[in-house]
Formats: sequence, C-alpha cells, structure tokens
Amino acid sequence: MATNRLTHVSTPLPGPKSAELIERWHRVEADTTGFQAPVVWDSAEGAAVTDVDGNRYIDWTSGVLVTNLGHCHPKLVEVVRAAAGRLINNYECPTESRVLAAEALVAHLPRHLDKCFFLTTGSEATEACIRIMKRKTGCFEVVGFHGSFHGRTFAAASVGGLAGPKRGYGPSAPGVIRVPYPYLYRSPVGGGEEGLIDYCMTMLEETVRSCSAGSLAGVMVEPYLGSAGFIFPPIGYLKALEQWARDRGILFALDEVQSSYGRTGRMWAMEWEDLKPDLIAIGKGIGNGIPTSAVAARGEVIGCLGKGEMSSTAGGNPVSCAAVSAVLEVMDSENIVEKARRMGELIKDRLLGIQEKSRFLGDVRGMGMVMGLELVTDKKTKAPAADLTKQLICRCAENGLLVGSVGIFGNVIRVAPPLTISEAAADESLEIMERSLLSLQD
Ligand SMILES: Cc1ncc(COP(=O)(O)O)c(C=O)c1O
Repeated sequence: MATNRLTHVSTPLPGPKSAELIERWHRVEADTTGFQAPVVWDSAEGAAVTDVDGNRYIDWTSGVLVTNLGHCHPKLVEVVRAAAGRLINNYECPTESRVLAAEALVAHLPRHLDKCFFLTTGSEATEACIRIMKRKTGCFEVVGFHGSFHGRTFAAASVGGLAGPKRGYGPSAPGVIRVPYPYLYRSPVGGGEEGLIDYCMTMLEETVRSCSAGSLAGVMVEPYLGSAGFIFPPIGYLKALEQWARDRGILFALDEVQSSYGRTGRMWAMEWEDLKPDLIAIGKGIGNGIPTSAVAARGEVIGCLGKGEMSSTAGGNPVSCAAVSAVLEVMDSENIVEKARRMGELIKDRLLGIQEKSRFLGDVRGMGMVMGLELVTDKKTKAPAADLTKQLICRCAENGLLVGSVGIFGNVIRVAPPLTISEAAADESLEIMERSLLSLQD
C-alpha cells in the first residue's frame, strides 16, 4: 500500500482502547444510539479522523452533516476559544456576539427571511416552526410527509413521517395530515418524474380533502428526506407544493436543518427551486459542531409571537453566536459552497461508475455533497439490503472510511463528507468504498 495514504488502520476494530471505552460507556450511558462501526474518535482535522488507538480514517459523515467546514476548522477553534474566555453564558439579553451573529445570518438568507431567533438543537427549531405556524394562523393542522424527520421532540416527531420516533409512545400530537413524498427509485406509479409529481400532488389534494377539519396552518417539509434515505424529490415538486400552500393561504415551512450551509451545493437547498418559504428551521452546519440552531422567517410571520413566547436556556449564548459568525465568514472567504458543488459532481460521477460494477448498489442519488447509496440484494427486485449495509459500514471502517446509514429500510449509506475534503482524500475514500463494496460480492 502506498505510504502517502491518509488512512491507516493497524488494529482489528474495535482497537483495544476503543473496546475498553465502549464497554465502560455501555455500563453508564443508556445504549440508545444507532448502528455504527466500533470506533472511538479521539481527534479530527478537516476530513481526517483519528481514533483512540491511533487508527486514521477519512470521514464521510461530518458528524451527522454538521462539520461542513471540516473538523476543528482553525478559524472556528480560535474564535470559540476566545469567546469562551470572555463570556460563556447569559440569558435572553443581547450581547454583541448575538447581534453580530443575527446580522450575519440574516445577511446570508434570501431577502424575504428578514428575522431570526437562536435556539440550540434542530428539533427545537422545527418544533418552534410548528408552534409559529399554529400561532400565526390560529389553526392547528400541519401537512407532513411519509418518511420525513424533523427531530424527536413531541410535535416534531408527530409531524415527521417515520415510525421509529413514535413507536411505543402512544398517540402523537393531533392535527397532522400526512401525505407521500416523491421517492423516484421506488415510485408507485409510471411516468417518471412528472408522473410521480402528479401522483404526489393528487394524493396531497385528496388526503387533505378527506382528512382536514378545515383548520390548516401550514406545510412542513424537508428539501430532501434525510433520515428516510437521502431521497431527493424531482425538481418541480417543491415549487408545486409551495404554490399549493400559497393557493390555500397557509404557511410553507422548510426544514433546512441538514440541507443548508452549502450541503447541496447551494448555501440553502431552497435556492435550487427559488422557493420562498415563510419560515425555515436551521441546525447542524450553522455551528459546525458548536451546538446551535435557529428559526428564520418573514418578520410578519415570526412577529406573531409576543414577548416571552420563545426563549431557550442556551439559545443565543455568546460562544454559539461567535461560532455562527465565524462559520459564515469561513463559508464566504473559502468559497465553500462552490467547492462543495464541484467536488460533489466529481464524487457522484465516480460513485455512478462504482454502481455499474456492484451487484448491490441499486441507486446513487443526491446533489452537492449529500448523496445516498441505496443497497439492495437484487437490482431487479430492489429488495432492501439492511444487513449488507451494516456489513459495508464495518468493512469501510476496517479499510479506513467512516460512513453511516439511513433509510426507511436501513439500507442507505450516507455520503456526506466535510465540504472541504481535498481531492486526494476524496480519491482515496472512493477507492476504499469501491473495494469494500466489491468485497461483499466475494
Ligand atoms: C431534517 C432534520 N430536521 C431536524 C433534525 C433534528 O435535529 P437535532 O438532532 O439537532 O434535534 C434533524 C436531525 O437529524 C434533521 O435531519
């Protein structure tokens, strides 16, 4: 193996120190996390991760689509260190850091979204969007989508269309009208993209007609379904949906928690179809790892909230706000969005080539630096290959590549490296993916 490789895995996984920590972890922390390769991260820089046993990997997870600028970006580290030494916490009152962050965020948003508010997690932001839609309209029904994920808090999980966050918890919040989201690879109708858009719009119309109590507040939608398996709607669908909401005089909310900050090759995924949502939820990349989130909205929409109606203990704290400003500065100065678009095209081309060689890689989809690899046991029947997906995650880690999985059927590999990944790292990681995937055929 060439010595200039970035990756280097010299122990079986888990390595001895990782194994010990994983065992200690399970003794004291509830074991509720999803499936992952047995790797205990120690440090990371850019797209490179080192574990506690000294093994080195390339990261295709970005945490979970968080570290768009790369891990421990030096500018962000410097700013966060300085901010923490000055003032870590205060509550509700403005700080200069908070004012600067809000100004920077609003300046980077489409002009019509002229107000924002800082919170801490993505779920908190989507939950706030749902509250605002109800508060603004005085209505209580929200249209949500099969397979969508907006977080694990009560209203967010209720509007979401995945069973996992709901199963075993009794009735969800009332007032959710759930309709299909276009999943082209598994389309229930013919007619390609257009046929599928027509089908979804017809189902929307009919479901609302038959289920609504006449109290529609709005629509809450992801620009692509993240947790359901990186399912991208055909271009035209979201615009049609937005128009549908406009025609009924209800609010249109976009969950940009994972799709923003350059991930799709645009700063905001809404730019691809020139969408004009009334409000959006922002999370993940906004702090590049420093926990923070936000809601952004038209001023007259968020203005429905009175004094004291929205706040959060850690939302808008000075350290997070310093991170918000620093992230945006780096996005601009390093031309991150453009980089993501170019590198994304290169990676997708290579993945499509790998698909031709693989018996199990049924679908390669996505845009910018967010792609899904859907694994099937047979390309004709498209039977989901969840076990194989787990094997691939472990095989990749053994070969030096960290990936995770998503999907309604648990059979989609996430391709979501930091947007700053170098060409050499992209090249090496693609070679690892190809080798790992083809080795499953042996
Ligand atoms: C689209 C979307 N919305 C909301 C959330 C919830 O974010 P958080 O985990 O920060 O609460 C996620 C998390 O994965 C997400 O992908």
